[in-house]
Parts: sequence; C-alpha cells; structure tokens
Amino acid sequence: MVVNLSNNHSLITNWISEIRDIEIQNDRMRFRKNLERIAGVCAYEISKTLPWVEKEITTPLGISVCKVLEKQPVLATIMRAGLAMHNGFLDYFDKADNAFISAYRKHNRDGSFEISLDYISCPDTENRVVIISDPMLATGSSLVKTLQYIRNAGNPAEIHIACALACTVGIEYVQRAEPTATIWCGDIDDELTAKGYIVPGLGDAGDLAYGAKVQQ
Ligand code: URA
Repeated sequence: MVVNLSNNHSLITNWISEIRDIEIQNDRMRFRKNLERIAGVCAYEISKTLPWVEKEITTPLGISVCKVLEKQPVLATIMRAGLAMHNGFLDYFDKADNAFISAYRKHNRDGSFEISLDYISCPDTENRVVIISDPMLATGSSLVKTLQYIRNAGNPAEIHIACALACTVGIEYVQRAEPTATIWCGDIDDELTAKGYIVPGLGDAGDLAYGAKVQQ
C-alpha cells in the first residue's frame, strides 16, 4: 500500500513546499526541522495502524482504561540523510529500539552506481514492527538492500517505509521487493534523472541537511 500524505492539504504540504524551495533550503536548520516534522506526521499516521492493548491507568482520582501500543516498534534509518527524520520518529515512538545503516552510492566511471552498505547496527527484528525512514525514495535500491539486512536480524511482523519525497519508479521497485510493506510519503514525483535524482524533487537531501561532502 502507498499513502501519499499530500493528497489532501495539511501542514505537511506546507513543510514539503519549504524543503523543495531553493531559497528556504539555504536555512539548513529549517530543512532538518521540516524533515523532523514530516516524520512526526508519518509517525502519528502509522501509529493509528499499529496493534494496541487496553491498560488500566491509575489517575489521582480513579482508574482509566486506556489504549496503548502493544509493543514498541524498531525505528530504522539510512545514514546520513535519514537522521533528521529518525529524530522526528523518536520524538513520537520515544521508547523504540533503533537500527542504523550507513549506505552510499558508489559511482562508476560511466555514471552508474551501486549501493554500498558500511556500518550496520540492528536489534532483533523478529516479529517486530519495523519503520524505516529515508527522506528520498529515488531508485529504491538502497531501501531494498537495507531491508535485506534488516531481515537478516529477524523476520519483521510489519514493515513501514516513510519518506519525505518518493518517485513512482522507486515505489514500484520497492513494492516488487517488499510487497507487504506500506509506503508513507510526503509527496510523489514522477521523474528520475539518469543519475538517480528525483525531479522536481529537492536536490540532495543529505547535503542540504548536513553540508556538501567530497566524493571518496
Ligand atoms: N537522494 C537525494 O538526496 N535526492 C534525490 O533526488 C535522490 C536521492
């Protein structure tokens, strides 16, 4: 299933417009903050779909039967671009376990690239709800590769993928590899350049959040 959170106007469409805006992008703190806020909305929407249990809570005046999350999810992200969204998710799922995967595009001379995974730190994911955040779902190859590693740590009960922007080709690629996952996106664009950038997109999310890097 794919949920485009821009199908209806809400605060998220305002934040998406800001992260796309070449002028507003100069404010790096605002860019990160908007990614956090978009992740917060995704977290809230995803929370409505998660298993819950009833719990008796003692208040100063009596007992209230409340609905609470059955189990905390595992929050996973792809470094470095995913860090801001990860913080946004942690604000809401504040007792979650966390997985960090560092993935980068290793460019070939002909302009093509492969995804290389370096650092991986992942809890047991057996029968857990896994929510993975990545601001840009472009080709989908880093997400699919990351999910393969997450599956090495156990078979998740559910997988949710949250991204600020996604493109149609990437969504289709991820859906073929992970047909049961739900993809939550701030918005969806149709075009992808030969170098794997989303158009109109927003540019390089990692550079905009944390500064330009040298290609190694
Ligand atoms: N990663 C980015 O940061 N931007 C894109 O457009 C695609 C992948």
